[in-house]
Amino acid sequence: MEKYLIKGGNKLHGEVTISGAKNAAVAILPAVVLSDEPCIIENVPNISDIDFIIKILLAMGAEVTMLNRSTLRIDPRRIHTPVVEYDLAKNLRASYYFLGALLGKIGSARVSMPGGCDLGARPVDQHLKGFNSLGAECAVEHGMIRVSAEHLVGAHIYFDGVTVGATINVMLAAVKADGLTVIENAAKEPHVVDLANFLNSMGADIMGAGTDVIKIRGVKSLHGTQYSIIPDQIEAGTFMVAAAATGGDLLIKNVIPKHLESITVKLQKIGVYIEEYDDSIRVVGGGHLEKTNVKTMPHPGFPTDMQPQITTLLTLAEGTSIVTEGVWDNRFKYVNELRRMGADISVDGKVAVVEGVGHLMGAPVKATDLRAGAALIIAGLCASGTTEIEDIHHIERGYEDIEKKLRSVGADIRKVGIPDTMLAQAL
Ligand code: EPZ
Repeated sequence: MEKYLIKGGNKLHGEVTISGAKNAAVAILPAVVLSDEPCIIENVPNISDIDFIIKILLAMGAEVTMLNRSTLRIDPRRIHTPVVEYDLAKNLRASYYFLGALLGKIGSARVSMPGGCDLGARPVDQHLKGFNSLGAECAVEHGMIRVSAEHLVGAHIYFDGVTVGATINVMLAAVKADGLTVIENAAKEPHVVDLANFLNSMGADIMGAGTDVIKIRGVKSLHGTQYSIIPDQIEAGTFMVAAAATGGDLLIKNVIPKHLESITVKLQKIGVYIEEYDDSIRVVGGGHLEKTNVKTMPHPGFPTDMQPQITTLLTLAEGTSIVTEGVWDNRFKYVNELRRMGADISVDGKVAVVEGVGHLMGAPVKATDLRAGAALIIAGLCASGTTEIEDIHHIERGYEDIEKKLRSVGADIRKVGIPDTMLAQAL
């Protein structure tokens, strides 16, 4: 079992470079299945979620070649098995993007119910409603989602709520359907736009991504492309909060400042100084931190994937802050861990009341999910004494080399222990 050991108190100083966006990459790699030719994908983050997507592609018969640390060549021409079994699907949510991609490409797919972070109920009804509208039959049998269609036909789809996953899955299925598909109440997240741009670079005809209404005119075939994934909004936001929480001065490079606006505005409100450049952002902490209220919402609102990190920062601010989770039913599990470090937070349903305590104390804690783990790292970086974080596999699902990147800007963080894989072999 590997752990992070963090000795708190060091301010983050210097420059850090953000990797490609996890939530774009986990949609774009499955989307390659739709192409009739090989594709080259650049700026792919080196994280375990991507390792699982690659394993799924290989199991299906695709050829995947690593051209360099962040560039993959994927040849989907020999895909023979449109199935994602439980052993692979259980590891990540995005395994269900193979449903949309394979439905679009060959008209059928079987994918085990997906895994991913435990954030409360994570239904797939809107995905299936979208596939149904396009003319597919869908069933859930023995833990597998099965979709099939003789012929996909464009349709008008109105999602009951804003959902990133269903927006992406329906885009994937509709891109080669006959005629026009209109998705209303679509998700507007940067990764939805990035997927649309990627599909268009393969010859798709998608308009309106980034707005509430996405229009997809089906095309007969898609060709190979070379495409670079956008920088990770949430990795950048996590470093922004880490710089603020430690009172540091950090230049965060390879970002799209527009994608960070909701985070920037909140940090400024709390009292953090921020300078924006074309593709980097400087965050200077160390001043007085003020309470504020945060409500997470779909993009362009404050991202739910930054909620645990900003809550951690608010424990250091003066006064009482209210954090409301507007997307997930149960995203405050990490609060128990922060309490072990001296935080004063009470949770009632989707609302957390954070009493600023000024400082945190190191303690042994557990990452309960990916962003919870990121929040605990931030807490450890600014706490007095040593913090030991267990279950770091959650963190490694979505942050490339986080401990190396943090060490390079002055943090005292080390990974210790036996890798989980070696432990499994020994048992
Ligand atoms: C994506 O999850 C992200 N994951 C999540 O990031 C992120 O928290 C979430 O979007 C919201 O931004 C990936 O992109 C791989 P949704 P997704 O469909 O697509 C309800 C991280 O930390 N809903 O937008 O699963 C659902 O219950 C991860 O990187 C339905 O009711 O989220 C939720 O309340 C965690 N029916 C809301 O919609 C459905 O069919 C938003 O979910 C689908 C969703």
